[in-house]
Amino acid sequence: MALPGAIDAHTHFDMPCGDMTTSDDFYYGTRAAVAGGTTSIIDFSEPEHGTSLWNGLERWHEKADGKSFCDYGFHMTVSRYDEKLEEEIKGMVRNGVTSFKAYMAYIGDLGVTDGDLYRILKLIKKYNGLLLIHCENGEILDERRAELGETGPSDISNHPLSRPNEVEHDAVSRLIDMARLLDTQVYIVHTSTEEALAEIEKAKAEGVKVYCETCPHYLLLTDDRYREGGFEAAKYVCSPPLRKKKDNEALLRGIKEGAVDTVSTDHCSFNFKGQKDLGKEDFRQIPNGMPGVENRVELMLTYSDRQGISLNHTVKLLSENPAKIFGLYPKKGVIAPGSDADIVLIKPQSPHELSSKTQYQRVDYNPYEGTVVDYKVQHVFLRGHQIVSSGVPEERELFGQFLIRNTSVK
Ligand code: URP
Ligand code: ZN
Ligand code: ZN
Repeated sequence: MALPGAIDAHTHFDMPCGDMTTSDDFYYGTRAAVAGGTTSIIDFSEPEHGTSLWNGLERWHEKADGKSFCDYGFHMTVSRYDEKLEEEIKGMVRNGVTSFKAYMAYIGDLGVTDGDLYRILKLIKKYNGLLLIHCENGEILDERRAELGETGPSDISNHPLSRPNEVEHDAVSRLIDMARLLDTQVYIVHTSTEEALAEIEKAKAEGVKVYCETCPHYLLLTDDRYREGGFEAAKYVCSPPLRKKKDNEALLRGIKEGAVDTVSTDHCSFNFKGQKDLGKEDFRQIPNGMPGVENRVELMLTYSDRQGISLNHTVKLLSENPAKIFGLYPKKGVIAPGSDADIVLIKPQSPHELSSKTQYQRVDYNPYEGTVVDYKVQHVFLRGHQIVSSGVPEERELFGQFLIRNTSVK
């Protein structure tokens, strides 16, 4: 079957994290993306501490230009508010960076206060941009991390306890109130809990312009992983953490009833050996994040079949909706005359096991190791160029281009 190229609107390639950097850079990350049927990614660019958004843009162009198998755009991280920010936001939008990211967690690093978040939202609204928000109550989770880190630093099952459902729910609820007050659109990344989803559903019903993203790991995996296999559990340390089956089920319902708009990966790969294992003595030192960019399409097609989600609906979650939300439609997100010929040919009824041994992702594990998926990505075309043949990315020439995106106000 032929599908429009998938769009992964949430990746962290070549991302610094303390003394480390994510193991997939643009070359390896986008090679894995295309092998899995994704023809566009939108990565989070980060200005160096204390610098302007222009620094983030330059840095990310250096990382990505000439090194990408697929097309790529950037969301610009905003971790400060001051009188210079307005000009910078205006400049970003003019340069095709029409979406931004703020963190309600990671206080003292990337996180912003509620006051600054409100001001940032106001500015982004003025320029018709879209703010993506990592919703966790940073103060409460920091407090819990300190408490739990003191009593059981080497116990990874303390990771989900330090960031419980309430922490996400509170931040989502506060953000939605701000969006309502400002009458502006917001995009909630990696929604993981039943409680947060309920807030989003209520807000949508009231006409608040809120987009909801979830990720395959919040649909398919549970927090049991933190209690199994000893330190192997570190492979699943991500933020928000994996949740309970009831949360998986709520998000499935959210997909079926239309509250969930997109399924992205939050691909943020750290090797188990040499990166994750630096947190052996203290779960707080384990770098947060999991890989997934290569597996999203095959996993979601398989999951959708098993859960009774139609193929059209799945394509909306993986391609059409991100194209519309992030100012790429109808160039991307659809197979139609005049659109980019980003096309994925997929073979159904081709059961195979996902494994780190056979993956292109440059990371030494796969969170879905041993999972059987029923679909196999075979051939991929980017703007008409064949970039994957019989499952193998073409390394001769890299066709990936920077995506200059439009704004997309509802
Ligand atoms: O654990 C995660 N998700 N790491 C990546 C950064 C983020 O919060 O999205
Ligand atoms: Zn996040
Ligand atoms: Zn992320």
